[in-house]
Amino acid sequence: MSKNILEVNNLRTSFFTSEGEVRAVDGVSFSLPAGKTLGIVGESGSGKSITSLSLMRLIDHPGKIVGGEVIFKGEDLLKKSKKEMRHIRGNQISMIFQEPMTSLNPVYTIGDQIAESFQIHQGLSKRTAKIKAVEMLKLVGIPSPEKRVDQYPFELSGGMRQRVMIAMALACNPSLLIADEPTTALDVTIQAQILELIKDLQKRLNMSVIFITHDLGVVAETCDYVAVMYCGKVVEYSDVKTLFKNPKHPYTVGLLNSLPRHDMDQEDLVAIKGAVPSPFDMPKGCSFAPRCPFASPICHEKVPELTTLEQGRDVRCWIYTDEWDGDKEVNVNGKEATVNR
Ligand SMILES: Nc1ncnc2c1ncn2[C@@H]1O[C@H](COP(=O)(O)OP(=O)(O)O)[C@@H](O)[C@H]1O
Ligand SMILES: [Mg+2]
Repeated sequence: MSKNILEVNNLRTSFFTSEGEVRAVDGVSFSLPAGKTLGIVGESGSGKSITSLSLMRLIDHPGKIVGGEVIFKGEDLLKKSKKEMRHIRGNQISMIFQEPMTSLNPVYTIGDQIAESFQIHQGLSKRTAKIKAVEMLKLVGIPSPEKRVDQYPFELSGGMRQRVMIAMALACNPSLLIADEPTTALDVTIQAQILELIKDLQKRLNMSVIFITHDLGVVAETCDYVAVMYCGKVVEYSDVKTLFKNPKHPYTVGLLNSLPRHDMDQEDLVAIKGAVPSPFDMPKGCSFAPRCPFASPICHEKVPELTTLEQGRDVRCWIYTDEWDGDKEVNVNGKEATVNR
């Protein structure tokens, strides 16, 4: 079997709305080696959450997975029955969300909510399940877990509630954890603690993790690999070190340039001009072309394919093909920018 726990090939998910088809996920490919962390990064609306929900087969009407493969441990999840998927979700793949999306049930104690998972999926008795719940609270760093286990969600802070969510997600001992912007709703210090916790648990439990974020800074600190998304597509895939050292896609370059750095004045930041196109009015060629300082005629005409530059390094950009004939040096916000082919 491949050393990748997950391989996603050309995944496509659309919403069929009264105004037309919205291609929320439109050609997502990446792989995740077992025991590693993959970051999926992109602006709001780029299709990160719909990608993760598609992996879990949790897309509801009017949405539909319309193509591709999701190979998990050598088998295509898109070919599994609903029953098989429920089993996989309860035992192999877990997901945590940004707090507002799935909050805890306010009328049950947190202990009951964690214990429920042990009772349902592992058939433990109520008493044993509660002992396991206390262990889980300890594992995620909640102080005095014996006391906390009998408390209700409103008695906990936002950071503690997110720890409880993580405990619930880990209760089934998943081999893959998908965390969708798990720290976005938290303040900065708590964010750092939760990131540290996920990193630590990943190592201790030897889990594979998909970490979804709009923040490249978080990717740098947390992930081994990264998939950069723009308008429903993966535009670049790489290991994190290489991406930060040598970004290839002009969108990735723009994202990196907009990261605040200590050695730069705010004025030096080269922001990406323009706005994300509307899903009902997508450009004919590359969806980034209208904002790209390097766009040449072909970029406006034809959609580029995701192409492997070298092992483990994919980019979806005409610049890296023989067809491209644009200028290698352009002026961006009064500064020279050079294509790094
Ligand atoms: N229920 C829906 N109906 C129609 N379009 C949707 C729906 N949910 C999501 N989308 C579309 O999918 C796109 C991607 O959404 P999402 O994956 O949530 O973005 P992200 O998580 O990157 O912010 C959105 O921009 C929107 O156009
Ligand atoms: Mg999202």
